[in-house]
Amino acid sequence: MKKYDLIVIGAGPGGYVSAIYAAQSGLKTAIIEKNHRLGGTCLNIGCIPTKVLIESAKYLKKIKFMKELGIEVKEFSFSIEKAMKRKDRIVNKLTKGVEFLMEKNNIEVIKGEASFIDNAIIKVQGEEIEFENCIIATGSKPAELPHITLDGEFVISSTEALSLNPLPESIAIIGGGVIGVEFATIFSSFGVKTTILELMPQLIPGMDRDSADILKSELKKQKIKVFTDAKVKGAKNGKVLFEQNGEENEIEVDKVLLAVGRKPYTSGLGLHNTDIVLEKGHIRVSENLETDVKGVYAIGDVIDTPKLAHLASREGIKAVNHILGIEDKDDIYLSCPAVVYSSPEIAYVGLSLEDARQRGIEAEEAVFPLSANGKAYIEGIKNGFVKVVYNKNSEKLLGVHIVSPNASELISECAVAISKKMRVEELSRVIHPHPTVSESLMEAFHLAAGYPIHI
Ligand code: NAI
Repeated sequence: MKKYDLIVIGAGPGGYVSAIYAAQSGLKTAIIEKNHRLGGTCLNIGCIPTKVLIESAKYLKKIKFMKELGIEVKEFSFSIEKAMKRKDRIVNKLTKGVEFLMEKNNIEVIKGEASFIDNAIIKVQGEEIEFENCIIATGSKPAELPHITLDGEFVISSTEALSLNPLPESIAIIGGGVIGVEFATIFSSFGVKTTILELMPQLIPGMDRDSADILKSELKKQKIKVFTDAKVKGAKNGKVLFEQNGEENEIEVDKVLLAVGRKPYTSGLGLHNTDIVLEKGHIRVSENLETDVKGVYAIGDVIDTPKLAHLASREGIKAVNHILGIEDKDDIYLSCPAVVYSSPEIAYVGLSLEDARQRGIEAEEAVFPLSANGKAYIEGIKNGFVKVVYNKNSEKLLGVHIVSPNASELISECAVAISKKMRVEELSRVIHPHPTVSESLMEAFHLAAGYPIHI
């Protein structure tokens, strides 16, 4: 029987990063993947393809702004066909890149569905394989609602939404979370009449309230209809029925995108043959990401931590460090940034003011509006801010919330600051190049440290 130091199940950003790190650290490693392409949801039907389409959406928006710059674009057209082909090319290239990395790092790729025989043996394609350690990184799949049938025709998931060609004239998106908001941004800029129906009082529940407020008003400016506190009762025959403030409403649409979350993917894994415990569908793990079976770890969307590709990769490294006996005590959850690729982008890391106060921390916030930043004017940014949340007593940075174009790039330095437990006063002394939007971060730290310069 073949035996490996480490078997990784699932070749998404959690699994393949774990495999590379383990192989580079000297572990004899194999990765098992049932899909014909490596890369998991993120590369094939998630982060990457959506961001390719968002790039087209961004440029369509920029065409309108060009007039303000003195550039008149007299005629332009948009081809969904070409945008989709570009998406497929990029996905193809990146998944091939993962294959190359597996080969380069001497990781054996086993194609097929892995199923546990017991706590130490896995079966794939009829062959039994023994392992010293195992990392389960099988990810998640779209969640469904009991009263709405995901038929792949009228009601679709994000997977089908990524290949809609031709585009529908109108779409209702059930769920105003990250997927709902990103697809609304894509579809509305492609000219599709878009409506979001969100169950909770705010979009992206749990997000800093001021960020959510700007998001809602910006989506409305993009002619996206947003209904919050909206309870969807049914979706069939071209109609969506929902209740808002006790009133029943009905809208007619060509398509419905169901985006009400994702649930862990464990079917077919044979977990009943092991001592691994599931809690509300997620695999239960310790703080070292080890399951109830010694030497078997679980990371990424299949466990109950935020469902983010970059977090899954970091969890993979943490799990491998535990296997190797390397200390890895960083608070990866507090310092994990999150991004919504809306227009403008929203990025955040750490705690919101409400979160901090709920934890009993004496917290304060300092907000620097982009309307006081020169580069924001140059770039035509009209709405946005940088908000820093800090501990009033220790002055330690607790969280940062950015609403701005390229917020996804600006947030990384804040992740470093939170991970290194830096204080707002020391952060305020770090020089930022002028003129940049990133100066707004420094300005927010100035404000928090008690010496506001440009405000
Ligand atoms: P989500 O959990 O972010 O949002 C689901 C939304 O649906 C919530 O706002 C919820 O209140 C709402 N909802 C639930 N039931 C509903 C109902 N019956 N009617 C109306 N609304 C209802 O999940 P989402 O957006 O599907 O994304 C799944 C996961 O993928 C998330 O954990 C997210 O973090 C991740 N993701 C991350 C991205 C990024 O990092 N940029 C992009 C896309 C997804």
